[in-house]
Formats: sequence, C-alpha cells, structure tokens
Amino acid sequence: MKLEIDTDKGEIVVDGSFPVDLWSDQGFKLLSDLWVKAGWNQKHVYTFTWFGIPIIQLPEDMIRYQEVVCALKPDVIIETGIAHGGSLVFSASLCKMLGKGRVIGIDVDIRAHNRARLEKHPLIDLITMVEGSSTDPAIVEKVKAEIRPGETVMVVLDSDHSYAHVTAELEAYAPLVTPGSYIVSTDGVMRNLTDVPRGQPHWGDENPAQAAIDFVSGDPTYVIEQPAWAFNESTLLDPVTHWPDAWIKRVR
Ligand SMILES: C[S@@+](CC[C@H](N)C(=O)[O-])C[C@H]1O[C@@H](n2cnc3c(N)ncnc32)[C@H](O)[C@@H]1O
Repeated sequence: MKLEIDTDKGEIVVDGSFPVDLWSDQGFKLLSDLWVKAGWNQKHVYTFTWFGIPIIQLPEDMIRYQEVVCALKPDVIIETGIAHGGSLVFSASLCKMLGKGRVIGIDVDIRAHNRARLEKHPLIDLITMVEGSSTDPAIVEKVKAEIRPGETVMVVLDSDHSYAHVTAELEAYAPLVTPGSYIVSTDGVMRNLTDVPRGQPHWGDENPAQAAIDFVSGDPTYVIEQPAWAFNESTLLDPVTHWPDAWIKRVR
C-alpha cells in the first residue's frame, strides 16, 4: 500500500486515490494500523513491565482487558502462555483490587528464574501455575479441577499462535467459559503482518483471529463481539490493537 501523508494539506492519499482527511477517524485508522505494524516489527510490546515483571502486550489491549475484567468480576481467569508472567500478574492485580478472583496460568516451559520470581511476588497467593502444553488433555483436566461449581470463568489464549493450536485451545477451554464471559484469542494482528520484515506470508490465513472466526462459525454458543468501551468521548469506534476478532463471548 502506498500512503502519502501531507501534514500541510491535512491529507492522506492511499494508492493514488481520493485524499482522506488526516485529522479524521479514517485518517487515524490508516495511521494507527500502520503504527501497529511498524511497532510489532520493532518489538514495541517487548518494552513493558507490570509490577516489575515483563508483560508482552500492547498497553491499549491491557486497558481494554481491564475494563472487561472490572465489569465481569470473574472468579477464575485462565491464561495460556505465561512467559515472564507479566500478564498473569496483571490479571492477579486486577483480582486483588476487585477483592475477587484468582488466576491460573499454563505454559509448556516455565523457566526456573521466571517461576522463582513469580513465587516471590506479593500476588502469588492469587496465582496457580500449571506446566505443560495447554492442549494436553491431562493439563486441561488439571485446570478444570481448579474450578469450583458455579464460578464465573474467563479465558485468555496467548501461547502458541498457530491456527491448529489456537483451534485446539478454543475447543478445550471455550466450554469452561461461563455464559456472558469471554475467551480471548489474542494476537490476531498476525493476519496483517504478512508484508512486514519480521512477519510470515502464511499468517494471512493462519492466525488466531481466523481460528476464532472459524470456531464461532461452527457453534452458535459463541459470537465474536468486541466488548463495548466503558468510556468514549470521541467518535472513534475501532481499537488500536494486537487482538482483532479476539473477543469470543459465550452467549448461552
Ligand atoms: C507470547 S508468550 C506469553 C506472554 C504473556 N502472556 C505475557 O503477556 O507476558 C507465549 C508463551 O506461550 C508458551 N507456549 C508455547 N507453546 C505452548 C503450549 N503448547 N502450551 C502452553 N504454553 C505454550 C511459551 O513457552 C511462551 O512462554
């Protein structure tokens, strides 16, 4: 795509077509979509910590996630993909502030230094770590055993982002989500990264967003629905996100 940005004229011309008002929602969308791609390539999300622990997420996604957790007040948040543990601690800190909820994290490889740091963290009492592949039936059973009858459950998938793995995770964990709650299939941004230096051509078809779209298309129990923003004094409607088509709501 060819974007010609003229800040003097206040215009963006896309592929030689009609100019778009630079200072409009449409102008912002063109710029922010490009910013997301450039930021992903430069590993922008690998520059943040939460309460001292690296968190590999776009801050806007975490603010949106926080809005949903605060509204839903889940009893249990299940997260696949711990890495350093930043997102696990982020969720645990929301539970702490809400005075409700706990977090179960699953990772195929919990590095000793990451485990040791998390075990010393002040929020560790709200965190359970499970080591193994998130799609291993024995691991899924272990996680299920942690959930008590009647508890509200939310799930965030952030482990292996291949289409096959996310599909298997959706099949294993979506049934644990309670009606009105969500399973979040993160990092569908991959579908827009086929033409950036660190991206891969096959991500156009094989990505977590496509896995989410295909999953809900086969099951009326779930819909893809971006949660409404809790506050919006702008005319903007689109998130600046690494998680397009990520929010799968259980509707029945
Ligand atoms: C993107 S990182 C997670 C980032 C973390 N959620 C955060 O926000 O900081 C992905 C993690 O998924 C883990 N992983 C990869 N394949 C997995 C699998 N089959 N089951 C569980 N975890 C897996 C990796 O070991 C890695 O730690």
